[in-house]
Amino acid sequence: MNVLVTGGSGTIGKYIVAKLIKHHKVGILDIKEPDCPTCRFHWVDMMNLAALTKVVSNYDAIVHLAGIPHPLNNPPEKVYSTNVLGTFNVMEAASNSGVKKIVLASSESTLGFAFRSKDFSPDFIPIDENHPTNPQDAYGLSKLNCEQILKSYSLKTDIQTISLRMPWVWVPEKENLDFYKGLIDEYSKWHKNLWAYVHVYDAANAFHLALIAKKLNKYETFFITAAENWTGIESKNLIQQFYPSVLKFAPDYSGKQSLISYAKANRMLGYTPEYTWQDLFDQINRIDS
Ligand SMILES: NC(=O)c1ccc[n+]([C@@H]2O[C@H](COP(=O)([O-])OP(=O)(O)OC[C@H]3O[C@@H](n4cnc5c(N)ncnc54)[C@H](O)[C@@H]3O)[C@@H](O)[C@H]2O)c1
Repeated sequence: MNVLVTGGSGTIGKYIVAKLIKHHKVGILDIKEPDCPTCRFHWVDMMNLAALTKVVSNYDAIVHLAGIPHPLNNPPEKVYSTNVLGTFNVMEAASNSGVKKIVLASSESTLGFAFRSKDFSPDFIPIDENHPTNPQDAYGLSKLNCEQILKSYSLKTDIQTISLRMPWVWVPEKENLDFYKGLIDEYSKWHKNLWAYVHVYDAANAFHLALIAKKLNKYETFFITAAENWTGIESKNLIQQFYPSVLKFAPDYSGKQSLISYAKANRMLGYTPEYTWQDLFDQINRIDS
């Protein structure tokens, strides 16, 4: 397949491109130079629909990553408008071309826990795709609206769309090691994140699996997570301490199992996380030696 990766020059984009070039002809659309000498690069701002339309007609599928990845460094209206209008433009451009499949980098922030202002608790554990989505911030709201845009275009065109809801994507890069270690030491400060993460190699594999998946519905949403929470602490202990009102647990919920379930992605995409944060720390330490 010819696959266009929007945002392929970004933090997780470069890993997703590295995975996809083993299987497909990959082009990158970004406003930043990519780190992929063998990829075709299109310097295009996704806010420019005409320029976007010219590029996408050369591709069979789009992995859409371009956007602002959290609400913390930009004004809310910029986060919202970049993500939502950017995704609208990608879908509008694709609907006037031969693109058959779009895979969106969505987020666990659609649930609303990560960047909430007012407290609330999960309805049940593990959270799955049936859990209510109640974002209170511009980023979570933008991602939920992006998912809705994909669904809308799947309803009106022949394009199949898949939204992959990732929690925090951890990358094996030396400059992040102390930060990740600090998170684990101060896990109580990070309860809004539900201590969820995914190793970028697993995230990249999920995009690959979504691209090659057959027999899916026209529109699908999947959580893509690591198997366990990132604290090293039993999940039920964390929930008792930080979300004591949660009483509904799956009967087989145990150990350090992630508070967000990847079971649907496992069943329908064949996704199984292979990497843990301990592997990631080893990978970073090997970079050093
Ligand atoms: N990093 C995470 O933990 C995480 C978790 C869940 C979802 N996501 C989603 O994955 C995607 C990538 O995240 P990231 O962490 O790599 O972010 P990033 O900021 O490192 O990369 C985003 C890329 O998009 C490009 N971009 C931004 N605006 C653009 C525009 N107008 N036109 C063209 N390109 C533009 C940037 O130049 C950059 O290369 C985002 O959509 C984010 O919401 C990220």
